Amino acid sequence: MKNEFERNILVTGGAGFIGANLVCLLAKKYKNYRIINLDKLTYAADLDNLKEVSSLDNYVFIKGDICDEVLVKDIFRRYGVDGVFHLAACSHVDNSIKSPREFIKTNIEGSFNLLSIAYEAWHNGPFEVKERYRHARFHLVSTDEVYGSCDSGLFTESSRFEPNSPYSASKASADLIARSYIKTFGLNVTISNCSNNFGPCQHGEKFIPTVIRCALIGENIPVYGDGGNIRDWLYVRDHCQALDLIFHKARPGETYNIGAGNEIDNLTLVKRICDLLYKFKPNGGDYSRQIKFVADRPGHDRRYGIDYSKIKKDLGWRPSTPFNEALEHTVRWYIDKI
Ligand SMILES: NC(=O)c1ccc[n+]([C@@H]2O[C@H](COP(=O)([O-])OP(=O)(O)OC[C@H]3O[C@@H](n4cnc5c(N)ncnc54)[C@H](O)[C@@H]3O)[C@@H](O)[C@H]2O)c1
Repeated sequence: MKNEFERNILVTGGAGFIGANLVCLLAKKYKNYRIINLDKLTYAADLDNLKEVSSLDNYVFIKGDICDEVLVKDIFRRYGVDGVFHLAACSHVDNSIKSPREFIKTNIEGSFNLLSIAYEAWHNGPFEVKERYRHARFHLVSTDEVYGSCDSGLFTESSRFEPNSPYSASKASADLIARSYIKTFGLNVTISNCSNNFGPCQHGEKFIPTVIRCALIGENIPVYGDGGNIRDWLYVRDHCQALDLIFHKARPGETYNIGAGNEIDNLTLVKRICDLLYKFKPNGGDYSRQIKFVADRPGHDRRYGIDYSKIKKDLGWRPSTPFNEALEHTVRWYIDKI
């Protein structure tokens, strides 16, 4: 195949929530890069979220599994992949409690498969990079959930891993395997651990889309426990800009926390969403009357608090969209979709 692109970037999970936002950013911003989206198209994927890039010359979609060694090797060889953003994962904590096996397979074995194939493709041996791949980089997208629940203070990049759900344990395992490829083989890997994302293109099963959907169709809005669980909400488009920056500018082997300083408890967040819904759809009345507290999720982490001063200091990144503006944009996006 004629290789007319400056770089060939593999994005895994590019038909999912964050992946679709990232693929759109990369394919539109870097016309000189070929963006190859490898996605198994599980229930969490939606190719509609990629409409704006699907006809671009620098975008390729491949349906497949990151655990498929033959397929992934073929993609690396055929396209000369020299960059990876690895996002494909089983991502819903509740599902990991009901059926953890697929989480272990995709999130751990799939990550290992990609790392080992990148290493084979880019290296002659440990710390010996092939000349053609001296700039090649593997970026792993991980979560702040690897640190467990944060009762006080904030997690830094050197906080201990204390994952509490099969999901977070599988993500922590992938982070550690990636670390071993940095330390043992000198693979050019970077890792980011981000807080809860929100924004357009998220699957309906997740918290914010569920709140909006239930409110609009007149159902109970389920809130776990007492609604006091705290998350730091990161707008997905700000997150994708951070990923772009880390991929291009971070030193090999670095790990960055990505947060937004938007800590808010679930109940307050739901009430804010209800207020926004009332602003755009006043016919529904006071949507907060539909809030219903439901039995808490087992092992539910009370709070995630993330210190993202390192990425601010090293790379100059900070979230650029004010929380209220991002939430309003998100609510409008789901109103249009429903
Ligand atoms: N959404 C968040 O708030 C959040 C926070 C922190 C970290 N993350 C991480 O970011 C990444 C993306 O999360 P998301 O919310 O976009 O997830 P998502 O569930 O919306 O999308 C995951 C995508 O991966 C694909 N996929 C799943 N298994 C696959 C496999 N075996 N092979 C190929 N593709 C497969 C799915 O089809 C889907 O398109 C994940 O690694 C997740 O752990 C997400």
